[in-house]
Amino acid sequence: MYEFTPDRALAKPALYRALATAARALTEGEPDAVANMANVAALLWQWLPDLNWAGFYRAIGGELVLGPFIGKPACIRIPFGRGVCGAAAREGRTQLVADVHAFPGHIACDAASAAELVVPVLRNGRVIAVIDLDSPVRGRFDADDAAGIEQLAALLSGAI
Ligand code: SME
Repeated sequence: MYEFTPDRALAKPALYRALATAARALTEGEPDAVANMANVAALLWQWLPDLNWAGFYRAIGGELVLGPFIGKPACIRIPFGRGVCGAAAREGRTQLVADVHAFPGHIACDAASAAELVVPVLRNGRVIAVIDLDSPVRGRFDADDAAGIEQLAALLSGAI
């Protein structure tokens, strides 16, 4: 049994440092990428308030393919360049979207989604996956969330 209890009283930077420590402990020494993504999706869901979707898309053959997640069933394949996830994959850069309805080409997998944060996971300079977080709260994600998930993406680079 794994007991990683989030302290919701922590300010975001400290919360994300603790989340990174938990993610490292969960994935260290485990070579199976699916197992590691599944546990990290569960961790994100457990630790971060106001989410309606948390998980991974993997870069396979020039498109994004749905990976382990928590939330409603989602689009399975997303071409690079399409939607928020596709933009993150094509540009290799974090996409922080306060209002998804204002993002051209946003793909609505869950009508409840209002804000989105997508962070690419890079290995040797190439995008191998993206971490996708959706929230029903407009403006839910800020620079601290982006920095925290980027820190997580860096430590997952060799684990997924
Ligand atoms: N909204 C995303 C699609 C993935 S779902 O949010 C899980 C996008 O525009 O890329």
